Amino acid sequence: MTDNIEYIPVADATDIEPGHSVSVNVNGTNILICNTEEGFFAVQDMCTHELVPLCGGYIQGTLISCPLHGAVYDLKSGEVMAPPAFEDLQTFKLKIEGTSISVESPTGKSLNF
Ligand code: FES
Repeated sequence: MTDNIEYIPVADATDIEPGHSVSVNVNGTNILICNTEEGFFAVQDMCTHELVPLCGGYIQGTLISCPLHGAVYDLKSGEVMAPPAFEDLQTFKLKIEGTSISVESPTGKSLNF
């Protein structure tokens, strides 16, 4: 199956330890690449509560906690799981070839941040 999504190489899987994340800038959008026990996921690197980066947030399972006030999001769906945030995160598709991680270009996506 093919799609017309443009993927941009952003990181090497060996550079992101399990339970950690890195923030990358793709065409002006900050995207957080997270290594979870269920694989890698990419979400907007911006908490929807007060628009601060989620980078450095605690990752447990496939959940991430905002480092500022502790809102919890599901990295697989972007869904907010615990307050004080109430808006979901934008998610981005990933592609992994060998150890190279590419992320869907955010161009053209409607971002709410
Ligand atoms: S800024 Fe993330 S929970 Fe408040």
